[in-house]
Amino acid sequence: MNHADASSEVQHDASGGCELITPFGGHGLVDLIVHDKDERAELLERAQNLPVVPLSLRAQYDLEMLAVGAFSPLDRFMSRSEYESVLYEMRLTGGELFPIPLALPCREEVLRGHPREIALSDEQGVILAVLDVDEVYPADVLREMRAVLGGRDSAHPLVIEAKNWPSHYLAGRPRVFDLPRHRLHGPLCRTPAELRTRLSAMGHSTVVAFQTRNPMHRIHEELTKRALQAVGGTLLIHPAVGVTRPQDVTAALRVEAYEVLVDTYYDPDDTLLSLMPLAMRFAGPREAVWHAIIRRNYGATHLIVGRDHAGPGPDSHGVPFYGPYDAQAMAEHYSDEIGVKTILARELAYLTDEDRYVELNEVPYGARVSSISGTQVREEYLAKGRRLPEWFTRPEVAEVLQRAYAQAGDASSGS
Ligand code: ADX
Repeated sequence: MNHADASSEVQHDASGGCELITPFGGHGLVDLIVHDKDERAELLERAQNLPVVPLSLRAQYDLEMLAVGAFSPLDRFMSRSEYESVLYEMRLTGGELFPIPLALPCREEVLRGHPREIALSDEQGVILAVLDVDEVYPADVLREMRAVLGGRDSAHPLVIEAKNWPSHYLAGRPRVFDLPRHRLHGPLCRTPAELRTRLSAMGHSTVVAFQTRNPMHRIHEELTKRALQAVGGTLLIHPAVGVTRPQDVTAALRVEAYEVLVDTYYDPDDTLLSLMPLAMRFAGPREAVWHAIIRRNYGATHLIVGRDHAGPGPDSHGVPFYGPYDAQAMAEHYSDEIGVKTILARELAYLTDEDRYVELNEVPYGARVSSISGTQVREEYLAKGRRLPEWFTRPEVAEVLQRAYAQAGDASSGS
């Protein structure tokens, strides 16, 4: 592949791999996993007698991301003062930028007797962690939504979900036994430390990350390949496979589509697919900043931020929650502080007669442009069993989408 040469910035670490950007915050990667066998056994035994909080899927993903250091320097569920500071200053109490609150929702009954330690389990009751409880405080979810999302419109997926959240938040540091990810996506779901080892071996300090929660169509392929061409290094295709919108294509099917796409259409020497168990918030601008911090922890130096990054779709009046480039503006504003450069991807359009993509503002006067909306994908193609055109999506991806449609009815097609 003909791209800019990043070799001038390559430095090698002691193991012969290439040196990557340090984690965010200057204190290395947080690691909350109990590695020691004896300590693990002792803690697990103690956990049998503790009150148990069963975690929602979202909380399980938050726990996992926290445990593996994806949120470094954050090493615990936030105290009330930290939470308030994040809501209104976008900073941890230590001053580091951090735009999204992270506390553990909990029902009040569990807190009777003011336990100092609590066991955290999955829905089946498997103990995942023990939490040293620092503090308990009431959740004011609507206020949180207004601060983080910039509104609390009833159509926002997080606002809808939050209606069922319990009344309190727990703060504290978890000690974690088990990573739920292994049950979901296995070795493709690398921790920041595992991914860093792999990226380092690929030999480039420059790492361009691509966030997505949708199947990748030709437009996404184009965005990623343009970004790689522009800055060189390694392209990290890094989809979020934790919680996304309920109507999104399931993670399992998306993963199939990512794997076949990357295997067939990308160069393994400069491109790596890795999955990330992030529970998204759809907080647009704040989420783009969060994504950049998280990607730095995974070893990336650049993040592609395109049109309506981490946007939730239209609100209850049919109006988009955020402007198409609001997320770019905020990510760019904090880019130096985070140390991750933003690759500002403009919206692309497909020129029908020339069979190529150009930026929307470069479409020649009078040129024919083709596009297919998410609704059209569902109604005009998948519902009728019609093959999506190759300029829109690769045939291998189209085949997975067709199966996703058959599995989920017309509720899922991606966009
Ligand atoms: S996201 O919630 O993960 O941001 P999605 O998977 O749709 O949603 O997008 C992944 C990335 O591609 C985001 O950076 C988004 O801004 C960018 N993107 C998606 N579609 C376009 C497009 N048509 N033009 C420019 N950027 C786009």
